[in-house]
Amino acid sequence: MNFTFNRNALKILSTFPGGLLVLIPLIIMGCTKIRERDTIDARDNFTTWQVYGGDVKGTHYSVLDQINRKNVSKLKVAWQYRADDMRSDPPSTIQCNPIIVEGTMYITTPRLKAVALDAATGKELWVFDPEGGKGGGMNRGLTYWRDSVDQRLFYAVGAYLYAVNAKDGKPIIGFGEGGRIDLRKNLDREELQFVTSSTPGVVFNDKLIISTSVGEGPNPGAPGHIRAFDVRTGERKWIFHTIPYPGEPGYETWSPDSWKTNGGANSWGGFTLDTKRGIVYFGTGSASYDHWGGNRIGQNLFANCVMALNAETGEYVWHFQVVHHDLWDYDIPCPPTLVTLAKDGKEIDAVAQPTKMGHLFVLNRDTGLPVFPVAERSVPRSDIPGEESWPTQPFPISSLAYARQVFTDQEITDLNPAATQYVRDTIKNMIKGNIFSPPSLKPVVMFPQFNGGSEWPGAAFDPESNTLIVNASNEAEWISMVQSKGDKETTLGVLGKQIFQSICANCHVQTKTNFQTSPAVTPLSGVKARMTKDQVLSLLETGKGQMPSFRTFSEVEKKAIVAWLFQEDENEKISTNDLRTSWRNQIPYVSTGHWDFRDPAGFPVNKRPWGTLNAIDLNKGTIKWQVPLGTYPQLEAQGLKPTGTFNIGGPVVTAGGLVFIGAAMDERLHAYDKDTGELLWEFQMDAGGYATPATFEIGGRQYVVIAAGGGGKPGTKPGDSYYCFALP
Ligand code: HEC
Repeated sequence: MNFTFNRNALKILSTFPGGLLVLIPLIIMGCTKIRERDTIDARDNFTTWQVYGGDVKGTHYSVLDQINRKNVSKLKVAWQYRADDMRSDPPSTIQCNPIIVEGTMYITTPRLKAVALDAATGKELWVFDPEGGKGGGMNRGLTYWRDSVDQRLFYAVGAYLYAVNAKDGKPIIGFGEGGRIDLRKNLDREELQFVTSSTPGVVFNDKLIISTSVGEGPNPGAPGHIRAFDVRTGERKWIFHTIPYPGEPGYETWSPDSWKTNGGANSWGGFTLDTKRGIVYFGTGSASYDHWGGNRIGQNLFANCVMALNAETGEYVWHFQVVHHDLWDYDIPCPPTLVTLAKDGKEIDAVAQPTKMGHLFVLNRDTGLPVFPVAERSVPRSDIPGEESWPTQPFPISSLAYARQVFTDQEITDLNPAATQYVRDTIKNMIKGNIFSPPSLKPVVMFPQFNGGSEWPGAAFDPESNTLIVNASNEAEWISMVQSKGDKETTLGVLGKQIFQSICANCHVQTKTNFQTSPAVTPLSGVKARMTKDQVLSLLETGKGQMPSFRTFSEVEKKAIVAWLFQEDENEKISTNDLRTSWRNQIPYVSTGHWDFRDPAGFPVNKRPWGTLNAIDLNKGTIKWQVPLGTYPQLEAQGLKPTGTFNIGGPVVTAGGLVFIGAAMDERLHAYDKDTGELLWEFQMDAGGYATPATFEIGGRQYVVIAAGGGGKPGTKPGDSYYCFALP
């Protein structure tokens, strides 16, 4: 999984013909604390929110201070916009960080419509709906670009990246093929099933650099190569192979054929940009398959790396790998925040990279070298046959670990004696250790958890105090591995399950008991009652809405998936010689899933706080304060202090002395004192704000907006609105 603000300032939004915001140094009244330096550029001096994350540096910072520590308690809802297109089963969500350009707000809805609103009133101006109300999946926002004649928005729905006219919401027909580009094409590999782009790209010199989400299952996901497209035509301008080809640097860190067969190493969390240096920064995800790497022996560069590329040409500048040969799905979930800090009497331009493990890496922006020491330490080795886990992993200094990373008996919940006893008993059969305990046939406790530590929202940076504000979840989960079959002969049922798990489960997730789905996709559990086999076969042929076509499936593959879905003819034997290589060379060990780990009442099994908001002093490399983020109203009613909860959604920090963040399961928008972490105000929304707020100014009035899209997880209430707050 981005935002901003305005002061009563000169809005100097100047652009190069290519749409690059030019920094025009200006002095903003009341903002003398911020020195004019490298951190302030490429944006209207932190007074607007035209870019995902507030500005291209990803700071989530605003100089607006009309809303401040003294008056935040008076904040009221100025308007609420309802998209009216949510889905309750399975629950949809909204992860969008709105952008605001000259009084117009651009948002996306649960069904991935793009909508323009009057930012002061919430009045709908236009709607763009490429899927006719049936869109699903995930979107975190839009990218805005303009030149002297054109204003465009870019965002992806399913496999397509759309260009939309920002003035009227009409597609730009001259872009790509009739107004969109197919993200599966031009990726330098054939036969790709699943490629989408959930986080907005960044624009540099008329090039739109885009992120991708790809399959991470056993076989064979698309590669996460980074690409830039011409904003006017949709033509591909450059590509960087994150899984290197023979002869390219890093090729030797994989198995010889990985460049043809392994997927992932994608930057699904988006980008930050240093416009002066002309460098684009991002983090990459793990290589696929996520949990067994016997077919990708080696360190696996450039998976799990913080990376810098020349934004003009896509050429390599530097990389820093945060996990070697990942076996845990430790994707770097967000781009690094561009920061400036003061150390040993010097100002250093750096990038700060939050991670799912809860390690913060602070790296020199020019060289990628750590600003604070990082040590390679020995970690436990995998006992799964065929696996060659990496013997060491990088650890930053302990004061830069902001999530809890070791599960010991001391970590067992003390919520009540029954919970403690239950966890003690359950955990006896599990392996508990630290973040780098490798997956095993026995269940392994994952802590903080698969979703972090940190997730896609990333951090906020306060340039007044060189402080990074970052939220984290601490709710243990578990994983275990099982052997999958590798015989000469197999059955329709086994192949069907394999196809489902490696392809369909990207959207239709399977759990132990039923076929659950990711948000906004129909569950397949009762498909037998709803559809005939012929209807399923014809759906596989044609696709529908966001459901891709699988017409490249062979007859036996189609038969197998139908046999498995309908639980008929599952035992019919087939020869593996008839199968394509990907099914024959199947991954020998697969995970049984990423499992929640809860006490009998449904609360996490580890000690509180289960979620935190953290302020990290980047000059010193130490945690300044750490407070629980959110609470469970049920426990609050019993008189318990805020427990913290799993949280998904990012912080915004302002010159008004505030940190705004939703994110927690209590479905509230919170405002904290940025110096102390004291909770100053909270507002109960009608669904979770699992997104990052934005702040902006119109006509002398400061607003704070957040999507309350709830959902995102089975059993979590969805919502369909955006709340916008201002002082009365
Ligand atoms: C990229 C995401 C995605 C993938 C991958 C995917 N599906 Fe779907 N699927 C969808 C969406 C979205 C729908 C709902 C389509 C609609 O009604 O607009 C759907 C609908 C279906 C339906 C109809 C369900 C019903 O009850 O109406 C079936 C059956 C189905 N998918 C089977 C599969 C199978 C089998 C695979 C793997 C070969 C697969 N899907 C892969 C997204 C996906």
